[in-house]
Amino acid sequence: MRMSEVLRQLLQQRSTAEARPRLMERYAAFLPINDATPNISLGEGYTPLIHARNLGRMIGCPLLHLKVEGANPTGSFKDRGMVVAVAKALEKGSRAIVCASTGNTAASAAAYGAAVGLEVAVVLPRGQIAAGKLLQAQVAGARVVGVDGNFDQALAAVVGMVDRHTGSGSAARPITLVNSLNPHRLAGQKTAAYEVCEDLGGAPDYLAIPVGNAGNISAYWQGFTDYRDAGLVETRPVMLGFQAAGAAPLVVGHPIEAPRTVATAIRIGNPASAEKALRAKDESGGVIEAVTDEEILAAYRDIARHEGIFCEPASAASVAGVRKLAAEGRLDPGATIVCVLTGHGLKDPDTASGSVEPPLEASATIDSVTMALGW
Ligand code: F0G
Repeated sequence: MRMSEVLRQLLQQRSTAEARPRLMERYAAFLPINDATPNISLGEGYTPLIHARNLGRMIGCPLLHLKVEGANPTGSFKDRGMVVAVAKALEKGSRAIVCASTGNTAASAAAYGAAVGLEVAVVLPRGQIAAGKLLQAQVAGARVVGVDGNFDQALAAVVGMVDRHTGSGSAARPITLVNSLNPHRLAGQKTAAYEVCEDLGGAPDYLAIPVGNAGNISAYWQGFTDYRDAGLVETRPVMLGFQAAGAAPLVVGHPIEAPRTVATAIRIGNPASAEKALRAKDESGGVIEAVTDEEILAAYRDIARHEGIFCEPASAASVAGVRKLAAEGRLDPGATIVCVLTGHGLKDPDTASGSVEPPLEASATIDSVTMALGW
């Protein structure tokens, strides 16, 4: 091929990438947006779906796939919902957005708020937030309030604060809650299910996903239901939700202790979307079960070592759960399985460094490096 031809093709490719529609534009027909909704974007969505051949073979599920949500702009699935929630907050004239968070919602709110010029406040359980997530929020200029308490208590405080501010007689421009209690968050997050269907040419047989506040599992189920109802796919997957052991089983109002470890898993005692999640489980004939920290960390390492994907530990609950069900003979080995990896591994350097050996040491010579490697 001549050089000019190569260049012409490259240029064509680039202009195609630039013309790629934004997430909200692409799925506008399924989203609560209209002409008055600002068309904002940080490039969220369109994340890879990877056929995990090595890991799939190891756990006896050759059609295992990984939906890599860490590839979103702030490194988690939250961006899909945040873009819609922030656009709607702008549309109604909010001056600020606020959330409680175990870190990822905070990082996402901080980024989108910064990009559109809204004030951002995030309320976090003090001392329990992975380093990367906290820094993302701070560097983007969010105001961070650390509280003595767990996520559930932080959320209750934020919800109460927003209610008080929007009480009758308040003339100030509103403050918008951007936790997944805000329905625009779940509306945006369901777009991941659309992408999975498009990439596979239909719905998978199983969709496995970590469950914290139970918003994302509910959003995926709505997404699969939308596509089925629109006649774009024929089936919906069996939904497999995995909570961190130590979180309350999906029962409304069950209290939990603050987590013992930093951010390995998302332990939430009173999942805000519990009822929707239970409906997704029941309607799909699925399960919501617990996986231990040990199972999560083993999956976390194996995903990186056998597939080259560095996800955050909480994400690996989906793979840990599928591995457990497969070992118990509860999954059809011929089934197409999608495990959602909800966040990026770089968010939590402390868990990462605790899971590896220190680097080898050597002098900067051929002999010394060779010896260190044992080659
Ligand atoms: N995975 C990751 C990496 C998360 O950060 C979360 C939730 C979940 C899974 C669970 O999703 O709540 O929709 O069931 N993180 C929230 C936060 C609580 O504040 O960032 P869910």
